[in-house]
Amino acid sequence: MKVLSVTSEIFPLVKTGGLADVTGSLPKALVASGIETTSIVPGYPKVMRLLNNATPLLVFDDLLGVQAALIHARIDDLSLFILDAPELYDRSGGPYVDGNGRDHHDNWRRFAALSRAAAEIANGILPGWQPDLVHTHDWQSAMTSVYMREMGCSVPVVITIHNIAFQGQYSADILPAIGLSSSLFSSKGLEYYGDISFLKGGLVTADAITTVSPTYAREILTPRFGMGMDGILNERVSVLRGIVNGIDLDVWDPATDPHLPRNYDLHSLRRKREIRQILLKNFDLDTEGNGPVFSAVSRLTWQKGLDMLAETADEIVANGGKLIIFGQGDPEVEQHLIRTAERYPGRMAVHIGYDEPIAHLIHGGSDAIVQPSRFEPCGLTQLYALRYGTVPVVSRTGGLSETIIDANDAAMSARVATGFQFHPVTTDGLRLALRRAMHAFEEPKMWARLQNQGMKAKFSWERSAQQYATVYANIVRKSGHAPQ
Ligand code: ADP
Ligand code: GLC
Repeated sequence: MKVLSVTSEIFPLVKTGGLADVTGSLPKALVASGIETTSIVPGYPKVMRLLNNATPLLVFDDLLGVQAALIHARIDDLSLFILDAPELYDRSGGPYVDGNGRDHHDNWRRFAALSRAAAEIANGILPGWQPDLVHTHDWQSAMTSVYMREMGCSVPVVITIHNIAFQGQYSADILPAIGLSSSLFSSKGLEYYGDISFLKGGLVTADAITTVSPTYAREILTPRFGMGMDGILNERVSVLRGIVNGIDLDVWDPATDPHLPRNYDLHSLRRKREIRQILLKNFDLDTEGNGPVFSAVSRLTWQKGLDMLAETADEIVANGGKLIIFGQGDPEVEQHLIRTAERYPGRMAVHIGYDEPIAHLIHGGSDAIVQPSRFEPCGLTQLYALRYGTVPVVSRTGGLSETIIDANDAAMSARVATGFQFHPVTTDGLRLALRRAMHAFEEPKMWARLQNQGMKAKFSWERSAQQYATVYANIVRKSGHAPQ
């Protein structure tokens, strides 16, 4: 089966979060089920710089008002269509924001164009290549199925919701500029609280909807987590399914990780202590003392709840622990964290930035990873932490609740516990979980067991990729399109 995956980011080319990890690793995992994926991504400067064996395929003279070219390339194991449209993508900043952290003013055109180009491919514009199925991800590519249906293209579509907080909401005035009829501004169509929403467009036109954990699939049916989309999702609940993300075991393996100053596995965990010393030095923290090092590697937004972690720094420090926070995002959250760290010199460090090797070093050198998310569709850092013998302390929500087994008495005696969960998701809840973690850290045998059980947990893509393959097969069968 041939699949066209449409995405605004893909590891290792361009990444701002877990979406890239998933779109970068799922295609490889699907090969075992006989599925060949080609991913279409925007030609951001970072992507264009990586192209050396690229084949030009076709030119769009007028893609929503701009000139664009479609290029095929293979990078690592990935087969890619790159949409080279300099007017839309050749600019400084990240995929979504400019150098000052503000959304690019024309994101609506940038991602409508990506979706439009993908729809043209689905509809057969490329001689000799047409997908049997299209897989879109989040609002940035959700409009693909809207364009396809407008063109009369009936190739089946799966949309995956990685994060429902981002909805691509714009004024209905843009409809003509994105090449769509104003008649789509209706409650059965794109209309969303007086505006239009790209995500809603995808949710009402796709054949199947998945999200990245079964718990989040249930949560988004409620007003609190559905963030305005719960009504639409309840109408489409019969095609909604949660499939938990896997991780790329080659990229995240402490035994071979090139970003770690020492490599280790289950049998050489003492080397982790050496990495811890290097990590503490790198972050200008005291290297003395035996308390645990708690870390967070994260987008710094309300979702991730790191403001709550900052509130508990006193607890960590009073117990001889250290705290490292590394990430970037909302300037207010960044400032709040930086100010808190100033109160605990040598004990707490907040570094603003985005860096893949540092993220790996933190996973290797920390004792525990803290994720106090207010909502978390799946979450990947807790899975990386498990693999690195770094014990996760997480809120009980979304994917966190089903990937980490709380170290309660029953789970400890059954030898299945892997971390600490807390609920309700409040500062006090987190404080209690941190205390539990610190007590466990004082008992080396108990801590070692948690590390051991976490490192043995299975989070490869195998099972989840099979579930995607089943979703694909079902909708292809229903659509009557026989895979070629
Ligand atoms: P989300 O997609 O909501 O940001 P996930 O836990 O699914 O959360 O994925 C986050 C991914 O982004 C992980 O691979 C994590 O290591 C990475 N990441 C987050 N912040 C940074 C950062 N500052 N530097 C490097 N990698 C980061
Ligand atoms: C989103 C979610 C995160 C999930 C990731 C990949 O960004 O916030 O929980 O792991 O997508 O699916």
